[in-house]
Formats: sequence, C-alpha cells, structure tokens
Amino acid sequence: MDLYVISGVAGMTGNELARQLTAAGHKVVGFDNFFASSIDTVRDLLGNESFEFFEYDIDNADNMASLKAKLEKDVVRGYSRFVFVNCAAVVHTEHFYHVNRTFRTNVESMKSFLDMAIELKADTYINCSTSEVYSMDSWTRGGVREDSFLTLANAEHSQRTSYAVGKLMTEFFMRDAVNEGKISGCSIRFANVYSKNELYPKHIIPHILTSLKKDGRVELLENSKKNRRTFLHNYDSCAAVKALIDTPSALDGSVYNVGTDEEITIVDLVKLCADKLGIKDPEIVFDGYRESDPERRLLSTEKLVTRTGWKPRVTLEKGIEMCVERFK
Ligand SMILES: NC(=O)c1ccc[n+]([C@@H]2O[C@H](COP(=O)([O-])OP(=O)(O)OC[C@H]3O[C@@H](n4cnc5c(N)ncnc54)[C@H](O)[C@@H]3O)[C@@H](O)[C@H]2O)c1
Repeated sequence: MDLYVISGVAGMTGNELARQLTAAGHKVVGFDNFFASSIDTVRDLLGNESFEFFEYDIDNADNMASLKAKLEKDVVRGYSRFVFVNCAAVVHTEHFYHVNRTFRTNVESMKSFLDMAIELKADTYINCSTSEVYSMDSWTRGGVREDSFLTLANAEHSQRTSYAVGKLMTEFFMRDAVNEGKISGCSIRFANVYSKNELYPKHIIPHILTSLKKDGRVELLENSKKNRRTFLHNYDSCAAVKALIDTPSALDGSVYNVGTDEEITIVDLVKLCADKLGIKDPEIVFDGYRESDPERRLLSTEKLVTRTGWKPRVTLEKGIEMCVERFK
C-alpha cells in the first residue's frame, strides 16, 4: 500500500486521483480550502477509511504544520511508496491577473510543500505546472515540445502571464530538488482540464453549458472567433499523473506535456455542447478581448507516451456527453 498526499484534492485532477488511488487500495491524505471547489466532489470518499480529508489552506503555516505532524505519525506505519501530488493552485483565467495571490499559492506554497515532502523523506513529488508557460508559442506543427524555447508575453503586454511565469519557476524548483538527489519527481504541463463536476462558471465548458441552458445564447470573447483549443478530461489528467508515478525512470525532474491533439474552435465547441443538449442553432455573441491569449494551444505528448505508454481515453464528444448528463 502506498501513501499519497494530495493538495487541492477537491479540484478536478485531485478528486479523480483520490478516487482512483483509494479504489486501488492506497491511502490518500488530501486537503483543500475550497477556493475553487466544494466538498461535493469528494463527498463519496468521505466515509472511506483509506481517505482522510482536511479543510486546510496550503498558504497557512499552522495548517501545514498540523498536516506535517499528522504525516509524521502516518509514515512510521511503513508504506511501499510515499508520494506528494501538488494540485492546489490559483488556476482560473480570471485569477491569473492577481499577481500577489497567485505567486503566494502557486510558487511560494508549492516550494514549502516540496520542502515538506523532502523533510518527510517522501519518495516522489509531482508538480502540476501548466501549458500556459508556452505563452505566445503554444502551438507548432505536431505540437510544442517540452524543450521548446519560450516566447513569453510579459508585463508590458499583460499581467496574465504572471500565472505562467510562476508555474515555470516551480519547474526549476522541481528539477533542482531531483538533481540534488533530495527526491524523485517531475512537472506536468496540463492543457485545459475539464470535468463533469466542474463548478467554476467562468471556465469555458461550464460557461457554455450554463448559458445554453438559460436561453440558448452564449457570449464569447472576440478571441473566440479565431481560437482553437484542446480539452483534457480529468480522467485522463489523473491517468497521466498515475502513469508517471508508476514509471520511476520518468521521475527525473523533467517536464511532461499532458493534453490531447483533438483541437476544436470555441465556436464549434458551443455547437457540440448545443447538439448534446438538444438545442438547435445556438446564438453566439462576441464581446470583450483578452490580451496575450494564443490562438492555438497544441502540445506534443510524445515524451510522455514514449516513456509511460499514457494515452488519452476520453474523446471530447464523450466528455461533453458526460458533462451534459451531469448538468441535466
Ligand atoms: N484546469 C486546467 O485547465 C489546468 C491547466 C493547466 C494546469 N493546471 C494545473 O493542474 C493543477 C490541478 O488543477 P485542477 O485542474 O485540478 O484545477 P482546480 O481549480 O479544479 O483544482 C485546484 C484546487 O486547488 C484548491 N486550492 C486553491 N488554492 C488553495 C489553497 N490556498 N489551499 C488549498 N487548496 C487550494 C482549489 O480549491 C481547487 O480545489 C493545478 O496546479 C493547475 O495549475 C490546470
């Protein structure tokens, strides 16, 4: 039996990961401050003796001291593997512009959580980074690769990139800790994770579904006239985390892209959602413009696939059907 500690466990990747790990017979200690989630996403796990949940804030030193003391007691029981997965983050687009808060949670607390893992002699730390680090060079033929050089929009263009820059910094902390032999681990650059349980109304899929259900009319940013995106179901984001944890040679401190190659325009995404809701001819209106938002975001997952055998399983059509089913 392994011991997993998951920050942001009520979030999209965290809750599915906790579900799959406990089902596989492992112990999961998870916490969340419900910044962008609620207890509902892990409610089904609450009675499970393999799952322990704490309403903790990763930025709160007292909370983290309590967690550490608790884990010190757990560890002496002897688990085959002891793994930290850092999912807690200020994630959504709206918050990207809040530089201080984003830096605190996404960079400083990521580093403190990594230090805790090292002090507790954990085997592995998984650092959730983001495909936002590709910034203005988010696509190329065959998809951008982990070792591609970056062209970053900066403070002259938009505060938005502060999220990406912070996450990029965490990849250096991760690599350094592995290079110094303190722990094994890696960073993961996810692209547009979604989930049927997603609460966040400003994320694109819940926004489209809510708007369509209300009056069949969806308001999109002007950017959506051109933008294409890929979407990664949380079942697949979680499967990627597990595939990496189960491949010790992959935990070399480096970075892995995790996404699909199923690109869709945002307008076609609205049409797909409408179709699944049984709505004909949805009305689409355009308002507002987001600076420094790349037109496409297409990642090469060759490194991950070659090293671990991971492949996305949930097609976008299937995933939208799952969201619509839940939404109804
Ligand atoms: N969702 C995406 O599209 C996406 C894309 C790229 C990268 N990522 C990264 O993947 C990781 C997992 O994100 P997700 O997709 O599950 O998003 P999510 O927002 O669903 O999950 C993040 C969780 O962290 C929690 N959280 C935020 N601040 C916290 C704090 N101070 N203390 C404790 N918990 C806190 C939130 O309440 C939420 O439950 C994050 O690090 C994120 O940056 C996500």
